[in-house]
Amino acid sequence: MADAYDVVVIGSGPGGYVCAIKAAQLGLKTAVVEKRETFGGTCLNIGCIPSKALLHASELFEEAGHDFASLGIKVNKPKLDLKAMMGHKDKTVEANVNGVAFLFKKNKIDSFIGTGRIAAPGKVDVTNGSGETQTIEAKNIVIATGSDSAALPGIDIDEKTVVTSTGALELNSVPEKMIVVGAGVIGLEMGSVWRRLGSEVTVVEFLDRVLPGMDGDVGKQFQRMLTKQGMTFKLSSKVTGVNKEGNRLKVSVEPANGGETDTLEADIVLVAIGRKPYTDGLGLAEAGVALDDKGRVKTDAHFKTNVDGIYAIGDVIAGPMLAHKAEDEGMAIAEILAGDVGHVNYNVIPNVVYTYPEVASVGKTEEELKEAGVEYVVGKFPFMANGRARAMLHTDGFVKILADKKTDRVLGGHIVGFGAGDMIHEIAVLMEFGGSSEDLGRTCHAHPTLSEAVREAGLATFAKPIHM
Ligand code: FAD
Ligand code: NAI
Repeated sequence: MADAYDVVVIGSGPGGYVCAIKAAQLGLKTAVVEKRETFGGTCLNIGCIPSKALLHASELFEEAGHDFASLGIKVNKPKLDLKAMMGHKDKTVEANVNGVAFLFKKNKIDSFIGTGRIAAPGKVDVTNGSGETQTIEAKNIVIATGSDSAALPGIDIDEKTVVTSTGALELNSVPEKMIVVGAGVIGLEMGSVWRRLGSEVTVVEFLDRVLPGMDGDVGKQFQRMLTKQGMTFKLSSKVTGVNKEGNRLKVSVEPANGGETDTLEADIVLVAIGRKPYTDGLGLAEAGVALDDKGRVKTDAHFKTNVDGIYAIGDVIAGPMLAHKAEDEGMAIAEILAGDVGHVNYNVIPNVVYTYPEVASVGKTEEELKEAGVEYVVGKFPFMANGRARAMLHTDGFVKILADKKTDRVLGGHIVGFGAGDMIHEIAVLMEFGGSSEDLGRTCHAHPTLSEAVREAGLATFAKPIHM
């Protein structure tokens, strides 16, 4: 039996590894159990990091092929070396997962590679690849086992031709035709990668819009932009079957509410219809840990489950399935376990789609404010009217600020545009401090920057923009 720990974390994704590091920094004796050979979870191994490596490389590939000439740069048509691009992605993943291993050592965190199962409160059995089991004792257990891709009933995923995001990150040739099921974040990010590299991409979405959950204005404009880039959308539609005929796939698509079936052809079908919490093999039922109606581990506001000494964070509990949400919960629970105050402000969690242009949001959408009966004012500013955006040929998109009509407090910010994922954070900081659109509009912004568009949207909310 290994030494007793103050905390053992099951899962080393952004929730688990951040929790472990913070706990160790706060003086807790900490261990991590991870069933993958490498640390970093979905995010570092098969999620955020590899997808962003491919998004960046494919964006430059497209830019070199289309936009350089307008900037006075003559180059021959760029040639794709997919193997080298995948190599860049793999090296990026390797550096990141090794970074987590280094941080575990640096912070004197013990790690156990194997599947963790809660044998009882305070006891975790770890079974390694050879089937050997050892028991770790800990005062506290933190479940950070993340999530897995949701399956489409009746459709077999082989990760070769019918793939989830994991297979879509590993294709060894550019498919001629790709059908993406689901116009959410994964569908639009991975669909963008393969369209830029040469695929004809059709996105089939159940709802009548892309990116549900994002502001409606943003969704509409963004769909137009992606369509202009060459992506095809079949909204209010569902995929009901995929049949293999030789090396082609015949995909049956029906209107969402039923009706005539259309058959589309594809080389690759990417199923991206959401993710589900991952609790397989954890022994939760035997340990008496309650789940909610969506199969997520049920916790209170302090991440505690219904069983004393057992906590949960990240994708496996309620809330947005985002790496930074998991990280913040990891820090908060470590602080709570160390006797400090740990807290996550769920009203200010940025959300970024890393396409071209990027889409970023924080706080409420217009639809949410309407539904809650909150009176609000809107300020908008287009990148077309921003000098730096014109100089860079990145004029697509806009910034939109939503503020309370009476108090002017900023309730939401939405940006579609180049660099949106970085710019969103000034709105997030503003909201953390309870700032108003006037605070934003009166803050001096360096010229010429894309961020001036954020300031102008602030001005447009409480007064008038200058450059429009
Ligand atoms: P995970 O990262 O899923 O980690 C859980 C870990 O637990 C895994 O390593 C798993 O092997 C391990 N585990 C599970 N069960 C056991 C067990 N019984 N014993 C031992 N170990 C176990 N989010 C963003 O914020 N930005 C992005 O750009 C982004 N891009 C994404 C792209 C893709 C393609 C995907 C799929 C996801 C993306 N996400 C992104 C979501 C992000 O990856 C998740 O929100 C995040 O990884 C959740 O962290 P977590 O720590 O809760 O769980
Ligand atoms: P998602 O929830 O973002 O989108 C799924 C889409 O599929 C929705 O639009 C939904 O209406 C649609 N859908 C559901 N069932 C369908 C069906 N049968 N037929 C057609 N459409 C259907 O889920 P996605 O894209 O799989 O991503 C999962 C999660 O991973 C995201 O919610 C996000 O939390 C995380 N993620 C975050 C990223 C980021 O922050 N940039 C990038 C990738 C993933």
